[in-house]
Amino acid sequence: MNIAIVGGTGREGKGIAIRWARAGHDVVIGSRDGERASAAALVLGETAGRAIAGAANEAAVARAEVVLLAVPYAAHAETLRGLAGALSGRVLIDITVPLVPPKVRVVQLPAGRSAAEEAQAIVGPSVRVVAGLHHVGAAELADPAHQFDSDVLVCGDDADAKALAIRLIADLGLRALDAGPLANAVALESLTPVLLHLNKTYTAAGAGLRITGLPTG
Ligand SMILES: NC(=O)c1ccc[n+]([C@@H]2O[C@H](COP(=O)([O-])OP(=O)(O)OC[C@H]3O[C@@H](n4cnc5c(N)ncnc54)[C@H](OP(=O)(O)O)[C@@H]3O)[C@@H](O)[C@H]2O)c1
Repeated sequence: MNIAIVGGTGREGKGIAIRWARAGHDVVIGSRDGERASAAALVLGETAGRAIAGAANEAAVARAEVVLLAVPYAAHAETLRGLAGALSGRVLIDITVPLVPPKVRVVQLPAGRSAAEEAQAIVGPSVRVVAGLHHVGAAELADPAHQFDSDVLVCGDDADAKALAIRLIADLGLRALDAGPLANAVALESLTPVLLHLNKTYTAAGAGLRITGLPTG
């Protein structure tokens, strides 16, 4: 599948790009600076063992069926407003956690309830927004040897888009679970500051979530 990662030069996007490329997907990472994206893509492609492309964010989105948004919350609305036209008709996987530095271990909900709902409001109904991957750390994603024992909760209003996102997240090496409509993103995004608090309290780096009691184990 053709996948673009907006903000793919960053911490979270890089590991995702490598893992999707290794799973056989055609990945293009996007950046505000196309040259920066191309340079980063070259290195990521060497690590992945499969070419990864780089382009300016809008050009990256234009060649993709699925777009993953991986920019800080402070850049979320502005980035989406700039890409709204290019995103039309695509599935958008939004992994944004609305952290408000420096208090990143405290839940601070945005005006639009959740970043994902804000995204849907900005890009409009022609884009099917799915939210997930809020609880998966960049370091673990970037380590190709790391095997996850945590789950990814995925929410969205379009059943087909959500099912597609769940399959793509499985390709990253994670069990992804249907966590309901996009309105539930507020719960998912709220848990990340809690995990960051747990990391600090218990001197850990990779606190994650595991759902028990499901037939799939
Ligand atoms: N890091 C994690 O462990 C983690 C875990 C779960 C979820 N997330 C979520 O994933 C998203 C990305 O996190 P990250 O840690 O990868 O972020 P990051 O490394 O700080 O930034 C990612 C990319 O976003 C672009 N960017 C930065 N500031 C921007 C701005 N003001 N305007 C437009 N683009 C900007 C940059 O790309 P260019 O400069 O090349 O354009 C940067 O490489 C966040 O929303 C975060 O909540 C992160």
